[in-house]
Amino acid sequence: MSQYMKSFVGAVALTMVASTSAVAGSGVSGAGAVSAAQLLWMSADVSSANIFNRNLKKEKDPNAPPPESGYHDPENDGTHILQPPKEAYVGLPTTEFGNHVDWVKAIDQDKLSPRWDRFDSSEEPFVMDLDIVREVKASVPDVVFPHRQHTEWLACANCHPAIFVPQKGANQINMSAILLGQKCGVCHGKVSFPITTKTCTKCHSKPKPEDWSPPLSDATLKNPWR
Ligand code: HEC
Ligand code: HEC
Ligand code: HEC
Repeated sequence: MSQYMKSFVGAVALTMVASTSAVAGSGVSGAGAVSAAQLLWMSADVSSANIFNRNLKKEKDPNAPPPESGYHDPENDGTHILQPPKEAYVGLPTTEFGNHVDWVKAIDQDKLSPRWDRFDSSEEPFVMDLDIVREVKASVPDVVFPHRQHTEWLACANCHPAIFVPQKGANQINMSAILLGQKCGVCHGKVSFPITTKTCTKCHSKPKPEDWSPPLSDATLKNPWR
């Protein structure tokens, strides 16, 4: 992983530490004197700051058989009839993350052809080949959102208009929202590949131009003391 990605992950962690201690500090220590015991308590609190976030939680076995998956009802007889994922996924292209299947490649290599309509097996998907590039102000590579790969799996109405207004640049998207399960995070981390340090470049796939430099903020540009 490149250096700036490491520092971004660190920065997020730091921001969370800072805000958690601020809350803990104002509630517990009043005027500002913090005892050793309180510090210990605060650091315990901080180390668990992220546990609410399922995207950052490490799952035990994403491909456990249905009765042990935690998603299916083991009391239901139907659960025991379902084919276990490890058996179903044999021969599909693999990844190092999520449920270890590369679902996009699986279609590209003709290993799978998802049924488009529950009742009519001859129904064809409406695939749209349109990449949307989202230029990122930070030094990470820009984001390319590919419609083709999505519309091979999903009908337009899964995203438009509830999650995204169908207009380039009309939506505010950022990593915090994604990690909290909004925007791209409505699916990524739940039904499609998760946000991990191994997947950054799947979305951040367009390198910055050679002559790229960070945009200066208004505050910097207008600062008369510069
Ligand atoms: C997985 C979610 C998803 C699906 C499914 C999806 N889109 Fe999009 N669409 C997006 C995103 C994200 C953008 C970019 C929005 C932005 O930049 O603010 C977008 C942008 C668009 C745009 C604007 C293009 C432009 O240049 O302004 C159109 C039109 C569009 N989509 C049509 C469709 C159609 C038609 C389908 C179905 C064939 C579809 N989309 C399926 C997520 C999706
Ligand atoms: C599912 C796709 C996806 C993945 C995976 C992903 N990102 Fe992002 N990231 C985005 C989108 C979309 C944006 C918003 C781009 C924009 O400004 O329109 C973004 C924005 C960012 C930004 C700019 C600041 C911000 O919060 O908006 C940074 C930095 C960033 N990502 C780093 C990372 C790192 C590091 C990883 C891996 C741990 C990662 N991203 C994984 C989609 C993704
Ligand atoms: C409605 C659900 C949904 C939303 C919202 C969504 N995705 Fe996806 N995405 C999928 C599915 C399903 C796949 C295919 C399965 C997989 O790769 O995990 C996919 C695959 C991808 C891929 C992999 C393409 C490849 O060639 O391997 C990228 C990149 C991606 N999404 C980026 C994004 C970004 C960026 C956003 C937000 C702007 C986003 N997605 C929003 C469902 C979604």
